[in-house]
Amino acid sequence: KVHHVVLTGGVGSRLWPLSRVSCPKQYLNLFSNFSLFELAVKRNRSLSDSLIVVGNRGNQHLSADSLKKLHIENYTNIVEATPRNTAPAIAFAAFATLPDDILLITPADHIIAEGEAYSKAVNKAIALAMEGNIVTFGVCPTRPETGYGYIETDGEEVISFREKPDQKTAQAFLEQGNFLWNSGMFCFQAKVFLEELEKYAPEVYEKSHAVWFQNRNGQLDFEASKAIPSISIDYAVMEHSSKIKAVPASFDWSDMGSFEAVYDYLKEQGHKVDEMGNMVIGSDKFTSFVGLKDSILVITDDAHLVLAKEESQQVKKVYDILESMN
Ligand code: GDD
Ligand code: MG
Repeated sequence: KVHHVVLTGGVGSRLWPLSRVSCPKQYLNLFSNFSLFELAVKRNRSLSDSLIVVGNRGNQHLSADSLKKLHIENYTNIVEATPRNTAPAIAFAAFATLPDDILLITPADHIIAEGEAYSKAVNKAIALAMEGNIVTFGVCPTRPETGYGYIETDGEEVISFREKPDQKTAQAFLEQGNFLWNSGMFCFQAKVFLEELEKYAPEVYEKSHAVWFQNRNGQLDFEASKAIPSISIDYAVMEHSSKIKAVPASFDWSDMGSFEAVYDYLKEQGHKVDEMGNMVIGSDKFTSFVGLKDSILVITDDAHLVLAKEESQQVKKVYDILESMN
């Protein structure tokens, strides 16, 4: 049985003010009539037998509304008591399924061109996962992005995995030429993931296990959840496992993680950019940029953001400051 596990617990702080705690980016209809969450669910529907949504208390009504819109009634809803990043979130999905079941893990914040290239890659990943591998999808890198994981390859073989390198290291990876971006999607048997998690991150394994199996009528305990180390699958498992295989992602992929990515995507879609590379998001009003280059103006009902495109990763800081004022 193949379960599509959609991870939807993030708040998307690097897309503030478009993305809010009350409505994180994956639920916004930014790019079409469907939100990124809805697109992720739709895309994997015909490739899997069941859907598992792992989200948090604050956004579960948004997931429920989206699934209603898509006429999906049968799904497993895992509601975390508090976000602990992706390793515990995936562990819960693995505990909820049978050991031999295949989990196809996808984030909820990607834009991917649906079609044959995508289904072929996923089916290949499922076949490799059935042989006991932890499968990733490798994207050809186009810039020394520091927000992604990198997969070091030697032909078909994966040599190592490096999550979020610094600028210099990322630059060196690009020059070396045998590194791929980790797309953030994974495929494996539930038991293989749990074995690797137990081996390389025993505390995460044990505490997630305790929270999952001591639930009260499906409710996960808040205090016990807070004790689970907050860590992503990339640091907890991918950087250590020797069972990793990478399937080339020959489909169009972009992570809507930062305004730089949104800018690139919108530009390609024909969104207006002036001759100095400036863009307005969220308003059709005439706007003039004087003496500015590659900057982005983001307008929402209650907040404006002006940023230099290459500083997109810094937007998280604004969010953190506002958060601390609450
Ligand atoms: N349920 C749940 N709980 N989901 C979570 C949690 C959590 O605590 N934290 C994050 N997520 C969800 C996010 O909503 C997103 O859909 C997905 O998990 C990935 O988390 P991100 O926070 O967006 O990760 P990232 O973008 O920094 O890095 C990952 O993706 C990159 C590609 O987009 C890594 O896998 C990188 O290696 C990869 O390159
Ligand atoms: Mg992301």
